[in-house]
Amino acid sequence: MLNHLGRVLTRRRQHDPRLYHGNPPMNTDFPEQFFQRQDESADEDFYRQPRFVTHIDDATILRLTEFYRQALAPNSRVLDLMSSWISHLPEEVEYARVSAQGMNLEELNANPRLDAHVVQNLNANPKLPFEDNSFDAVMIAVSIQYLTQPVEVMKEINRCLAPGGQCIVAMSHRLFPTKAIYAFHVLPPDQRVQVVATYMERGGLGKLEVLDRSPENADPLWIVRGFTPS
Ligand SMILES: C[S@@+](CC[C@H](N)C(=O)[O-])C[C@H]1O[C@@H](n2cnc3c(N)ncnc32)[C@H](O)[C@@H]1O
Repeated sequence: MLNHLGRVLTRRRQHDPRLYHGNPPMNTDFPEQFFQRQDESADEDFYRQPRFVTHIDDATILRLTEFYRQALAPNSRVLDLMSSWISHLPEEVEYARVSAQGMNLEELNANPRLDAHVVQNLNANPKLPFEDNSFDAVMIAVSIQYLTQPVEVMKEINRCLAPGGQCIVAMSHRLFPTKAIYAFHVLPPDQRVQVVATYMERGGLGKLEVLDRSPENADPLWIVRGFTPS
């Protein structure tokens, strides 16, 4: 299966080579098993208990915060999707509004950066409860591997982003094994990045960009970014 998926994913399509530093997005359908998980029970059960832990090393968090510092303009409207008690935003920067969606209310209540938050299972309902064009940036940190309808979620992100807005997906290599989709178990990092770029492209985002911001001797950090047309 790994070889089969690898062959499928490395087929090429037209892309903008000026920005993109990964394999171009896929031009085939996702294989049937792609989104299957070992545990298909309701995600609400898995996330019922709060987890006040970090999911990547401190050095990796510092790199992500530094990326946000550069990428997110002060006073912009940001949405932290698949959030918890920590958003990794730079403490000294003020944003017009920081909204979030997550799975555990206690975690979200404890997140000091949030102005508003909502609990929603995006696998059960990928429709985001936000107005069209209402954010300048949407972030998903170390969580994209749990989405079973990621293209639907990307379409929703696209709808909620203002013209010229950006979606930033930060990825590393840890996962909750029973809840991560099959593809993230079997594909190597460059193809996982390619898969996320494909989600974005199929969701209508463009100017795709892949960045490796991994620190030495700590969890890696790969960032995929896409923009709405300005
Ligand atoms: C590894 S944690 C990462 C949390 C946070 N973004 C961070 O950087 O620490 C995975 C997160 O994915 C989110 N998540 C998992 N399954 C989800 C689902 N079905 N719908 C929406 N969010 C989900 C939960 O909010 C959970 O906290």
